[in-house]
Amino acid sequence: MSDTVVSAVLNVDVKGPVINRHVYGHFAEHLGRCIYGGFYVGEDSDVPNAGGIRLDVVEALRALNIPNLRWPGGCFADEYHWMDGIGPKEQRPAMVNTHWGNVEENNHFGTHEFMALCELLGAEPYISGNVGSGTVKEMSDWVEYLTRDGDSPMVRLRKANGREEPWRVRFWGLGNEAWGCGGHMSAEQYAAEARRYGTYCRDHGDNRLYRIAAGANSDDYTWTETLMKQLGDLGCAYRPQAFYQALSLHYYTIPGTWQDKGDATVFDTDEYYRTMVKAAHIDELLTGHSNVMDCYDPGKNVGLVLDEWGTWWNVEPGTNPGFLYQQNTLRDALVAGLHFDIFHRHADRLVMANIAQTVNVLQAMILTDPDSGALVLTPTYHVFEMNKGHQDAASLRVDLLSDVPTREVGPDALATVSLSASRKDGKVLVSLSNLDAADAADVELDLRGGSVGGVVSRILTAGAPQTHNTPDAPAAVAPRSHEQVTVTGTRVRVHLPAHSFVTVQVDVA
Ligand code: AHR
Repeated sequence: MSDTVVSAVLNVDVKGPVINRHVYGHFAEHLGRCIYGGFYVGEDSDVPNAGGIRLDVVEALRALNIPNLRWPGGCFADEYHWMDGIGPKEQRPAMVNTHWGNVEENNHFGTHEFMALCELLGAEPYISGNVGSGTVKEMSDWVEYLTRDGDSPMVRLRKANGREEPWRVRFWGLGNEAWGCGGHMSAEQYAAEARRYGTYCRDHGDNRLYRIAAGANSDDYTWTETLMKQLGDLGCAYRPQAFYQALSLHYYTIPGTWQDKGDATVFDTDEYYRTMVKAAHIDELLTGHSNVMDCYDPGKNVGLVLDEWGTWWNVEPGTNPGFLYQQNTLRDALVAGLHFDIFHRHADRLVMANIAQTVNVLQAMILTDPDSGALVLTPTYHVFEMNKGHQDAASLRVDLLSDVPTREVGPDALATVSLSASRKDGKVLVSLSNLDAADAADVELDLRGGSVGGVVSRILTAGAPQTHNTPDAPAAVAPRSHEQVTVTGTRVRVHLPAHSFVTVQVDVA
């Protein structure tokens, strides 16, 4: 047990907003080895596959209850012309992926392959359309191709390519990073485009699109305000127009500069804490963008979608700089745990979040070895798995009765203990992180408003924050049962070793 004790109250019978399962969403771009070699190996591969899709990757992601997958980008989305990715593979035109590594893209993974992947995963597709270099007609046709039933030019084309039934597609992105790689537009310019594209992305039959406008970079609140203004007038009587139903936001955790972001596995304690400060900043950003949205939409009809988040390090030595391949340590896992605590607190406005990216790119769940094909689950993967019980659960407010320990990090103060809780199906799930690199802490939870039954706890930690998994040591960071939990009446006391992530599941009647 530790000298530092954080006391908190959970009123388990006072349910807050539901944590949308889609905040546990994912992102797969045609970038480096995310699609090719990651998700897709082709039908002739020795790696077990279904129609070219890696079955070990599918199995690992299904264990996370992966709710959605965003595709094909990212920056690639605004260069992608979907018609190049349908029909017989040998007839599909190739292109150069100028944004990512200048490599040739053969378009063998296209619309049908992506939808098959989503079906295997049991995940909802989230398609990002091309605003930057595409046309309204091209995007409108793609929606028709995917979702229309009966008879129409695009339906006939889809059927000719082997798919009778329409798919159901809800999440639809109107471009990506329109302020940057998606066309370098001003907020006003993009807002006009979003209205236009949103108009012609039709609801076919009973398929209802949830159109997501390309939102702000980090703290660009003006961008958010400009997009909100398009949807109607300021005030309580606000009834948003249907051009788009949500705005996105992108924010990456980078303790260094864009030129030198820091190494994924070699870092000192100062850099470790700076990383945590940068990760914690997402709370201020979600609050800021939500506040702007609240002015225009107090009824919270319009969703906020953080469709790119995660750590971004220098690429691994010897790999293509355009492939964004990085290792993933316990530090990354703690960044993920901290993000989720914050997401849970913003459940009233945050409807979706997508980690960048799922396989072999940035803060990945899964790394695959390009030579042997071996698959490694990263520490971040385990946080997604340990936290999956929060999906679609009612959030529970955490009221602190004592101060949380802090570390001075330059001009910033980092709270080193973070926690969040939810309730679903007679169980309360509490996630707790101790971000301190050296000191342990205890958290005493008083669960009021219900009787406390069985408790199951798991821990993710290792000897050092730099610890990571490799094909030779695939379980260097892996969850195990956590025994340092005691229950006295309604009080649950949890010991948190330094740099650890813990979940406690309590049966509550
Ligand atoms: O995730 C990598 C890139 O980061 C995406 O393509 C882009 O949207 C963002 O800048």
